[in-house]
Parts: sequence; C-alpha cells; structure tokens
Amino acid sequence: MQKVADIINAARRIGVVIPAFNVPYLPMVEPVVRAVVDQDSFALVETARLEWIKFESKGPEAVAKEFARWSQPEHVRLHLDHVPVIDEDDQRVDYVPVFKEALALGYESVMLDGSRLRLEDNIQATRTVVELAHVQGVLVEAELGAVLGHETGPLPPYEELFASGLGFTDVEEARRFVQESGCDWLSVAIGNVHGAIAAGRKDQKKIQARLNLDRLDQLSQATNIPLVLHGGSGIKQEDVLGAGKCGIAKINVGTEIRQSYEVALKESGSQVKAQDAVYARTVELLRDYLHLAGIRAMLT
Ligand code: 13P
Repeated sequence: MQKVADIINAARRIGVVIPAFNVPYLPMVEPVVRAVVDQDSFALVETARLEWIKFESKGPEAVAKEFARWSQPEHVRLHLDHVPVIDEDDQRVDYVPVFKEALALGYESVMLDGSRLRLEDNIQATRTVVELAHVQGVLVEAELGAVLGHETGPLPPYEELFASGLGFTDVEEARRFVQESGCDWLSVAIGNVHGAIAAGRKDQKKIQARLNLDRLDQLSQATNIPLVLHGGSGIKQEDVLGAGKCGIAKINVGTEIRQSYEVALKESGSQVKAQDAVYARTVELLRDYLHLAGIRAMLT
C-alpha cells in the first residue's frame, strides 16, 4: 500500500490540492468515501477534537471504526485533524494522550495545532508529537499563523483582515519552524479562515475568502514541504486552484459538507437523505471545484 506521504508529495509535484473532509457526524463517512471512489479520486477523511466535543464524531476511536467499515485505501486515508494545545475556548488541552490513542488506532497522519502558542512553544510542542509519531511512521501536520474563525467571538471584517494580513504566516518564522520542529506538513494562514462553529453562527453561509498567493509562494520556497490550507469551504475557486500550483497539497473542507448534512437532516428528518446531500456536495467539490475526478491514477 502506498504511503500517504508519497501521495501528498505527488499532489504537490503535479500541482493539485487533495481534500481532507471533516466528519463531525459519523454517518458522513460513508457518502464521502462513496463520492471519492465514484469520482476515481483521492481524499483524506479527518476529524478534529472540536468535532467530538462540540459535534457528534464521538472521538478518534469511533471515527476509526466507522472509517474501517467503508475504507478503500486506494482512495481514502484517515487523518487526525486539529488537536490544539490551547483550544478555541482558550483552554489548555492534555494533547499527548490523544496522539497516543490515535497512533494505537492506526491513524496515518495527525495534526498538532500549537498556533495559539508563542513560536518557541509551538516548535517545542510540535517536536514532542513528531518524536512520538515518527517512530511509528506517522506524519505530523503543524500550524503556524492564525487561521481564525473557530473562536466564539466574531471575526474582524474580512476585507480588513485580508488587507492587513492579520495573523498571516510569517515567511522567516515558517522557515525556522519547519527546520526546528521536524513537521511534515504545515498549515498556513494566507487569507483563509475557518467556518464558524459557535452556536448561533454555525448555520450561516461562510464568507468567500481569497488567498495571498505571493505570500504562499514565498512560504513554499522557504519551507519546501507540502503546505495545507485550512478553512477550505467557500474559498474563491481560482485562488484554490492557484494555491495548488504554489505549494498547497492538502485542503481541509468542513463547513460545506457539515451544513449539507445538517440542513438535509433538519428538512427531511431522514439520515439517508442527509447522507445523499453529503454525497452530492462531495461529488461537486471533487469534480467541479477541485478538478480531481480521475486523479487517483496520477497519485498512487
Ligand atoms: P471549513 O469548515 O471552513 O471548511 O474548515 C475546515 C477546516 O479547516 C478543518 O480543519
């Protein structure tokens, strides 16, 4: 079986962006996998800590079990998304046991989010997870810069945020971070924002974000590892496709398919209809938005 590292490296080489679909509800796993297989594409399935705390993914073990029911390794692999050192509610997280659990469960890649820490502390925390994960051949994604949106309070107005570069990843810090932390993939902030998860805002349509591709190009050259775009829902298509040519190899997509599931479930009361809605949206994203139909053969 090909390693996920090789697949993401291949994506970076050929300039395409591989989606990692978040599954805040376990029944989302099946239609996501079905869509990826039907499109002869490739994707990761992922869950973040906030999705088992604030939604219903129930935790790394429940997601791994559900994934194993549908898994087709030629097309999909399992990733652990955002385990923060300090979470979106400013609480410190005991993160090491979560990674130990995920490693025992067979996750092939994991993400430590130290982005709310000072640079040195983020390096140190990432290094700790890299040391745990690499002995088992597991890859580590880290984050530098502030991809805002998960916090409870409102975002600053988007145009202000973009124009000021608030929280954007710094090129020299990224160079140092990658060298000293030993991370394999780096999540960067270049205009992308997370869809809201706070009660009262999580159902709203997300703003259309744009990306600073010049900054991305500099970050890619300075780090020379696959870069990751969080907040992947609703980014201007031209910018996402352009980002694939400038070093982004993985894009995290949560809000779009979560809202498809929640709206369909609310309107129909049927889990099957909600799964159908996730399937349809995932197909559109793979085929029409990311242009990834048939890409599997080029990656594996
Ligand atoms: P969106 O919910 O904005 O797609 O972001 C998902 C994400 O980045 C999860 O890590």
